[in-house]
Amino acid sequence: MNTQELVDTASALVADDKGLLAMDESNPTCNKRFARLGIPQTEEARRDYRELIVTTPELGECISGAILYDETIRQQKQDGTSFVSVLTAAGIIPGIKVDAGAKDMAGHPGEKTTEGLDGLRERLAEYVGMGARFAKWRAVISIGDRLPSRSCIEANAHALARYAALCQEAGLVPIVEPEVLMAGDHTIARCGEVTEQVLRTAFHQLYVQRVMLEGMLLKPNMVLSGLACSTQESLDEVADATVTCLLRAVPAAVAGIAFLSGGQSAELASARLNAMNVQFHSRAPWALAFSFARAIQQPALEIWQGQEANVKPAQQTLLHRARCNQAARRGEYNAALERTGTW
Ligand code: 13P
Repeated sequence: MNTQELVDTASALVADDKGLLAMDESNPTCNKRFARLGIPQTEEARRDYRELIVTTPELGECISGAILYDETIRQQKQDGTSFVSVLTAAGIIPGIKVDAGAKDMAGHPGEKTTEGLDGLRERLAEYVGMGARFAKWRAVISIGDRLPSRSCIEANAHALARYAALCQEAGLVPIVEPEVLMAGDHTIARCGEVTEQVLRTAFHQLYVQRVMLEGMLLKPNMVLSGLACSTQESLDEVADATVTCLLRAVPAAVAGIAFLSGGQSAELASARLNAMNVQFHSRAPWALAFSFARAIQQPALEIWQGQEANVKPAQQTLLHRARCNQAARRGEYNAALERTGTW
Protein backbone atom coordinates (compact mmCIF):
# COMPACT_ATOMS: atom_id res chain seq x y z
CA MET A 1 0.00 0.00 0.00
CA ASN A 2 1.38 3.39 -0.99
CA THR A 3 0.18 5.49 1.93
CA GLN A 4 1.32 8.83 0.56
CA GLU A 5 -0.40 8.26 -2.77
CA LEU A 6 -3.69 7.45 -1.02
CA VAL A 7 -3.43 10.56 1.15
CA ASP A 8 -2.61 12.71 -1.90
CA THR A 9 -5.52 11.36 -3.95
CA ALA A 10 -7.96 11.74 -1.06
CA SER A 11 -6.93 15.35 -0.49
CA ALA A 12 -6.98 16.12 -4.23
CA LEU A 13 -10.63 14.98 -4.31
CA VAL A 14 -11.65 17.73 -1.88
CA ALA A 15 -9.12 20.43 -2.90
CA ASP A 16 -9.93 23.86 -4.36
CA ASP A 17 -13.56 23.83 -3.22
CA LYS A 18 -14.30 21.21 -5.85
CA GLY A 19 -16.46 18.13 -5.36
CA LEU A 20 -17.37 14.83 -6.92
CA LEU A 21 -19.85 13.99 -9.62
CA ALA A 22 -21.49 10.62 -9.08
CA MET A 23 -22.36 9.22 -12.53
CA ASP A 24 -22.30 5.61 -11.43
CA GLU A 25 -25.97 4.71 -11.69
CA SER A 26 -26.32 0.99 -12.33
CA ASN A 27 -28.02 0.08 -15.62
CA PRO A 28 -31.41 -0.56 -13.95
CA THR A 29 -31.27 2.80 -12.11
CA CYS A 30 -30.11 4.72 -15.20
CA ASN A 31 -32.83 3.02 -17.28
CA LYS A 32 -35.48 3.97 -14.72
CA ARG A 33 -34.44 7.63 -14.95
CA PHE A 34 -34.40 7.44 -18.77
CA ALA A 35 -37.81 5.74 -18.87
CA ARG A 36 -39.44 8.61 -16.95
CA LEU A 37 -38.31 11.00 -19.71
CA GLY A 38 -39.05 8.69 -22.63
CA ILE A 39 -35.35 8.16 -23.42
CA PRO A 40 -34.53 4.72 -24.90
CA GLN A 41 -33.11 2.34 -22.29
CA THR A 42 -30.21 1.07 -24.38
CA GLU A 43 -26.46 0.80 -23.95
CA GLU A 44 -26.02 3.35 -26.75
CA ALA A 45 -28.29 5.92 -25.07
CA ARG A 46 -26.44 5.43 -21.77
CA ARG A 47 -23.15 5.89 -23.61
CA ASP A 48 -24.39 9.05 -25.37
CA TYR A 49 -25.51 10.50 -22.05
CA ARG A 50 -22.24 9.73 -20.32
CA GLU A 51 -20.34 11.24 -23.26
CA LEU A 52 -22.40 14.42 -22.80
CA ILE A 53 -21.31 14.52 -19.14
CA VAL A 54 -17.60 13.81 -19.52
CA THR A 55 -17.17 16.23 -22.44
CA THR A 56 -18.84 19.16 -20.66
CA PRO A 57 -16.46 22.11 -21.19
CA GLU A 58 -14.84 23.52 -18.01
CA LEU A 59 -16.24 20.76 -15.79
CA GLY A 60 -12.77 20.17 -14.34
CA GLU A 61 -12.81 23.67 -12.83
CA CYS A 62 -15.40 22.60 -10.26
CA ILE A 63 -15.42 18.78 -10.31
CA SER A 64 -12.43 16.92 -8.84
CA GLY A 65 -13.52 13.35 -9.47
CA ALA A 66 -16.20 11.39 -11.32
CA ILE A 67 -17.56 8.05 -10.11
CA LEU A 68 -18.17 5.67 -13.00
CA TYR A 69 -20.10 2.41 -13.32
CA ASP A 70 -18.64 -0.84 -14.67
CA GLU A 71 -20.28 -0.36 -18.08
CA THR A 72 -19.16 3.29 -18.30
CA ILE A 73 -15.52 2.80 -17.36
CA ARG A 74 -15.25 0.49 -20.40
CA GLN A 75 -16.86 2.98 -22.81
CA GLN A 76 -15.42 5.53 -25.22
CA LYS A 77 -16.38 8.74 -26.92
CA GLN A 78 -17.69 8.49 -30.51
CA ASP A 79 -14.13 9.18 -31.68
CA GLY A 80 -12.76 6.20 -29.73
CA THR A 81 -11.15 8.08 -26.81
CA SER A 82 -11.90 6.26 -23.56
CA PHE A 83 -14.00 8.12 -21.00
CA VAL A 84 -11.17 7.62 -18.50
CA SER A 85 -8.77 9.48 -20.83
CA VAL A 86 -11.30 12.28 -21.43
CA LEU A 87 -11.78 12.79 -17.69
CA THR A 88 -8.08 12.64 -16.93
CA ALA A 89 -7.32 15.20 -19.65
CA ALA A 90 -9.96 17.48 -18.08
CA GLY A 91 -8.21 17.21 -14.69
CA ILE A 92 -10.98 14.99 -13.25
CA ILE A 93 -9.90 11.90 -11.31
CA PRO A 94 -11.73 8.74 -12.44
CA GLY A 95 -13.35 6.54 -9.79
CA ILE A 96 -15.52 3.45 -9.86
CA LYS A 97 -18.53 2.07 -7.99
CA VAL A 98 -17.59 -1.45 -6.88
CA ASP A 99 -20.48 -2.70 -4.77
CA ALA A 100 -22.90 -5.16 -6.31
CA GLY A 101 -26.00 -3.46 -4.92
CA ALA A 102 -28.12 -3.53 -1.78
CA LYS A 103 -30.01 -6.84 -1.47
CA ASP A 104 -32.78 -7.94 0.93
CA MET A 105 -31.30 -8.95 4.26
CA ALA A 106 -32.26 -12.44 5.38
CA GLY A 107 -34.53 -12.46 8.43
CA HIS A 108 -34.86 -8.66 8.38
CA PRO A 109 -37.94 -7.54 6.45
CA GLY A 110 -37.54 -4.04 5.05
CA GLU A 111 -33.75 -3.99 5.44
CA LYS A 112 -30.86 -4.46 3.04
CA THR A 113 -27.20 -5.36 3.08
CA THR A 114 -24.82 -4.46 0.30
CA GLU A 115 -23.11 -7.30 -1.57
CA GLY A 116 -19.93 -7.46 -3.63
CA LEU A 117 -17.04 -8.58 -1.43
CA ASP A 118 -16.54 -11.91 -3.25
CA GLY A 119 -13.86 -11.50 -5.92
CA LEU A 120 -13.46 -7.83 -5.02
CA ARG A 121 -9.64 -7.95 -4.82
CA GLU A 122 -9.47 -9.14 -8.44
CA ARG A 123 -12.04 -6.60 -9.67
CA LEU A 124 -10.16 -3.77 -7.96
CA ALA A 125 -6.94 -4.82 -9.69
CA GLU A 126 -8.73 -4.68 -13.05
CA TYR A 127 -10.12 -1.19 -12.35
CA VAL A 128 -6.69 0.06 -11.26
CA GLY A 129 -5.38 -1.22 -14.60
CA MET A 130 -8.07 0.84 -16.35
CA GLY A 131 -7.01 4.04 -14.56
CA ALA A 132 -9.39 4.28 -11.59
CA ARG A 133 -7.90 5.96 -8.52
CA PHE A 134 -10.75 5.79 -6.08
CA ALA A 135 -13.82 3.65 -5.45
CA LYS A 136 -17.28 3.80 -3.91
CA TRP A 137 -19.45 1.36 -1.95
CA ARG A 138 -22.96 2.32 -0.82
CA ALA A 139 -24.84 0.82 2.10
CA VAL A 140 -28.47 1.77 2.72
CA ILE A 141 -30.21 2.04 6.06
CA SER A 142 -33.96 2.61 6.36
CA ILE A 143 -35.71 4.34 9.23
CA GLY A 144 -39.10 2.90 10.15
CA ASP A 145 -41.08 1.19 12.85
CA ARG A 146 -38.32 -0.57 14.88
CA LEU A 147 -35.88 0.03 12.01
CA PRO A 148 -32.99 0.05 11.61
CA SER A 149 -32.00 -3.12 13.43
CA ARG A 150 -28.62 -3.35 15.12
CA SER A 151 -27.80 -6.32 12.89
CA CYS A 152 -28.43 -4.33 9.69
CA ILE A 153 -26.21 -1.47 10.88
CA GLU A 154 -23.43 -3.87 11.89
CA ALA A 155 -23.54 -6.05 8.76
CA ASN A 156 -23.33 -2.99 6.53
CA ALA A 157 -20.56 -1.39 8.58
CA HIS A 158 -18.54 -4.61 8.44
CA ALA A 159 -18.88 -4.86 4.64
CA LEU A 160 -17.98 -1.17 4.19
CA ALA A 161 -14.83 -1.61 6.26
CA ARG A 162 -13.72 -4.78 4.47
CA TYR A 163 -14.29 -3.06 1.12
CA ALA A 164 -12.31 -0.03 2.29
CA ALA A 165 -9.37 -2.14 3.44
CA LEU A 166 -9.25 -3.97 0.10
CA CYS A 167 -9.34 -0.65 -1.76
CA GLN A 168 -6.39 0.74 0.18
CA GLU A 169 -4.45 -2.48 -0.40
CA ALA A 170 -5.04 -1.97 -4.14
CA GLY A 171 -4.03 1.71 -4.04
CA LEU A 172 -7.59 3.06 -4.42
CA VAL A 173 -9.06 5.68 -2.09
CA PRO A 174 -12.29 4.23 -0.69
CA ILE A 175 -15.37 6.39 -0.48
CA VAL A 176 -17.40 4.96 2.39
CA GLU A 177 -21.10 5.64 1.87
CA PRO A 178 -23.52 4.60 4.60
CA GLU A 179 -26.75 6.24 3.43
CA VAL A 180 -29.62 6.72 5.86
CA LEU A 181 -32.58 7.04 3.50
CA MET A 182 -35.01 9.98 3.46
CA ALA A 183 -38.14 7.84 2.98
CA GLY A 184 -40.49 7.91 5.97
CA ASP A 185 -42.22 10.29 8.33
CA HIS A 186 -39.48 10.39 10.98
CA THR A 187 -38.28 13.61 12.58
CA ILE A 188 -34.91 15.24 12.02
CA ALA A 189 -33.96 14.23 15.57
CA ARG A 190 -34.58 10.55 14.75
CA CYS A 191 -32.51 10.87 11.56
CA GLY A 192 -29.71 12.42 13.60
CA GLU A 193 -29.85 9.62 16.16
CA VAL A 194 -29.75 6.88 13.51
CA THR A 195 -27.06 8.62 11.45
CA GLU A 196 -24.86 9.00 14.52
CA GLN A 197 -25.28 5.32 15.41
CA VAL A 198 -24.53 4.25 11.82
CA LEU A 199 -21.42 6.44 11.61
CA ARG A 200 -20.06 5.37 15.01
CA THR A 201 -20.51 1.72 14.04
CA ALA A 202 -18.89 2.26 10.64
CA PHE A 203 -15.86 4.02 12.12
CA HIS A 204 -15.44 1.31 14.74
CA GLN A 205 -15.34 -1.29 11.96
CA LEU A 206 -12.99 0.85 9.86
CA TYR A 207 -10.65 0.91 12.86
CA VAL A 208 -10.95 -2.84 13.43
CA GLN A 209 -10.18 -3.51 9.74
CA ARG A 210 -7.14 -1.16 9.87
CA VAL A 211 -8.37 1.36 7.34
CA MET A 212 -6.21 4.49 7.17
CA LEU A 213 -8.61 7.38 7.77
CA GLU A 214 -6.36 9.96 6.07
CA GLY A 215 -6.67 7.94 2.86
CA MET A 216 -10.47 7.68 2.68
CA LEU A 217 -13.52 9.90 2.21
CA LEU A 218 -16.88 9.65 3.94
CA LYS A 219 -20.03 10.08 1.85
CA PRO A 220 -22.88 10.57 4.32
CA ASN A 221 -26.49 11.67 4.09
CA MET A 222 -27.47 15.07 5.41
CA VAL A 223 -29.49 14.92 8.63
CA LEU A 224 -33.07 15.70 7.54
CA SER A 225 -36.60 14.92 8.58
CA GLY A 226 -38.25 12.18 6.54
CA LEU A 227 -39.84 13.12 3.22
CA ALA A 228 -43.32 12.44 4.67
CA CYS A 229 -42.70 14.32 7.93
CA SER A 230 -44.96 17.37 8.31
CA THR A 231 -42.15 19.49 9.76
CA GLN A 232 -39.27 20.40 7.44
CA GLU A 233 -36.48 22.37 9.06
CA SER A 234 -34.81 25.54 7.84
CA LEU A 235 -31.44 25.54 6.06
CA ASP A 236 -29.65 26.58 9.24
CA GLU A 237 -31.36 23.90 11.31
CA VAL A 238 -30.39 21.21 8.80
CA ALA A 239 -26.81 22.50 8.71
CA ASP A 240 -26.63 22.50 12.48
CA ALA A 241 -28.13 19.00 12.91
CA THR A 242 -25.90 17.55 10.20
CA VAL A 243 -22.57 18.98 11.27
CA THR A 244 -23.27 18.42 14.98
CA CYS A 245 -23.86 14.74 14.22
CA LEU A 246 -20.68 14.50 12.12
CA LEU A 247 -18.57 16.27 14.74
CA ARG A 248 -19.68 13.65 17.27
CA ALA A 249 -19.09 10.60 15.14
CA VAL A 250 -16.44 11.24 12.46
CA PRO A 251 -12.75 11.29 13.43
CA ALA A 252 -10.87 14.45 12.48
CA ALA A 253 -8.28 12.37 10.58
CA VAL A 254 -10.77 11.53 7.79
CA ALA A 255 -9.59 13.26 4.60
CA GLY A 256 -12.93 14.78 3.71
CA ILE A 257 -16.69 14.57 3.75
CA ALA A 258 -18.63 14.57 0.48
CA PHE A 259 -22.39 14.44 0.88
CA LEU A 260 -24.83 12.47 -1.25
CA SER A 261 -28.00 14.32 -2.29
CA GLY A 262 -30.40 11.43 -1.67
CA GLY A 263 -33.35 12.75 -3.69
CA GLN A 264 -33.38 16.36 -2.45
CA SER A 265 -33.98 18.92 -5.17
CA ALA A 266 -30.81 20.26 -6.75
CA GLU A 267 -31.34 23.74 -5.30
CA LEU A 268 -32.05 22.53 -1.77
CA ALA A 269 -28.95 20.33 -1.79
CA SER A 270 -26.82 23.34 -2.79
CA ALA A 271 -28.50 25.64 -0.28
CA ARG A 272 -28.06 23.18 2.61
CA LEU A 273 -24.42 22.53 1.75
CA ASN A 274 -23.91 26.27 1.60
CA ALA A 275 -25.48 26.77 5.05
CA MET A 276 -23.11 24.15 6.49
CA ASN A 277 -20.09 25.94 5.08
CA VAL A 278 -21.30 29.36 6.21
CA GLN A 279 -21.76 28.11 9.78
CA PHE A 280 -18.97 25.55 10.12
CA HIS A 281 -16.26 26.15 7.53
CA SER A 282 -13.79 27.39 10.12
CA ARG A 283 -14.78 24.89 12.83
CA ALA A 284 -15.04 21.59 10.99
CA PRO A 285 -11.83 19.54 10.82
CA TRP A 286 -12.68 18.21 7.35
CA ALA A 287 -13.84 19.73 4.06
CA LEU A 288 -17.63 19.75 3.71
CA ALA A 289 -17.91 18.86 0.03
CA PHE A 290 -20.35 17.16 -2.33
CA SER A 291 -20.61 13.91 -4.24
CA PHE A 292 -24.02 14.37 -5.82
CA ALA A 293 -25.63 12.37 -8.59
CA ARG A 294 -29.22 13.57 -8.97
CA ALA A 295 -28.59 17.05 -7.55
CA ILE A 296 -26.03 17.70 -10.30
CA GLN A 297 -27.37 15.61 -13.16
CA GLN A 298 -31.18 15.69 -13.00
CA PRO A 299 -31.81 19.17 -14.49
CA ALA A 300 -29.37 18.41 -17.33
CA LEU A 301 -30.95 15.02 -18.01
CA GLU A 302 -34.37 16.65 -18.25
CA ILE A 303 -33.05 19.09 -20.85
CA TRP A 304 -31.19 16.45 -22.87
CA GLN A 305 -34.21 14.12 -23.33
CA GLY A 306 -32.02 11.86 -25.47
CA GLN A 307 -31.78 14.48 -28.27
CA GLU A 308 -28.47 15.38 -29.93
CA ALA A 309 -29.75 18.96 -30.44
CA ASN A 310 -30.05 19.40 -26.66
CA VAL A 311 -26.50 18.37 -25.77
CA LYS A 312 -25.11 21.92 -25.44
CA PRO A 313 -27.87 23.37 -23.23
CA ALA A 314 -27.77 20.21 -21.11
CA GLN A 315 -24.00 20.61 -20.65
CA GLN A 316 -24.47 24.26 -19.66
CA THR A 317 -27.02 23.22 -17.04
CA LEU A 318 -24.73 20.47 -15.71
CA LEU A 319 -21.86 22.95 -15.42
CA HIS A 320 -24.15 25.47 -13.72
CA ARG A 321 -25.10 22.93 -11.03
CA ALA A 322 -21.48 21.95 -10.51
CA ARG A 323 -20.53 25.62 -10.13
CA CYS A 324 -23.41 26.27 -7.72
CA ASN A 325 -22.08 23.47 -5.52
CA GLN A 326 -18.54 24.78 -5.68
CA ALA A 327 -19.94 28.15 -4.54
CA ALA A 328 -21.77 26.30 -1.73
CA ARG A 329 -18.46 24.87 -0.54
CA ARG A 330 -17.24 28.47 -0.21
CA GLY A 331 -20.43 29.57 1.53
CA GLU A 332 -21.05 31.89 -1.42
CA TYR A 333 -24.11 30.27 -3.00
CA ASN A 334 -27.22 32.43 -3.16
CA ALA A 335 -30.44 32.93 -5.11
CA ALA A 336 -28.87 35.47 -7.48
CA LEU A 337 -26.08 33.08 -8.46
CA GLU A 338 -28.60 30.32 -8.89
CA ARG A 339 -30.72 32.48 -11.20
CA THR A 340 -28.13 34.30 -13.24
CA GLY A 341 -25.25 31.86 -13.22
CA THR A 342 -22.84 34.79 -13.26
CA TRP A 343 -19.53 33.46 -12.04
P1 13P B 1 -27.54 11.05 -5.11
O1 13P B 1 -26.77 12.31 -4.95
O2 13P B 1 -28.50 11.06 -6.27
O3 13P B 1 -28.16 10.59 -3.83
O4 13P B 1 -26.52 9.91 -5.48
C1 13P B 1 -25.34 9.84 -4.80
C2 13P B 1 -24.80 8.48 -4.93
O5 13P B 1 -23.74 8.29 -5.46
C3 13P B 1 -25.58 7.37 -4.38
O6 13P B 1 -24.74 6.26 -4.24
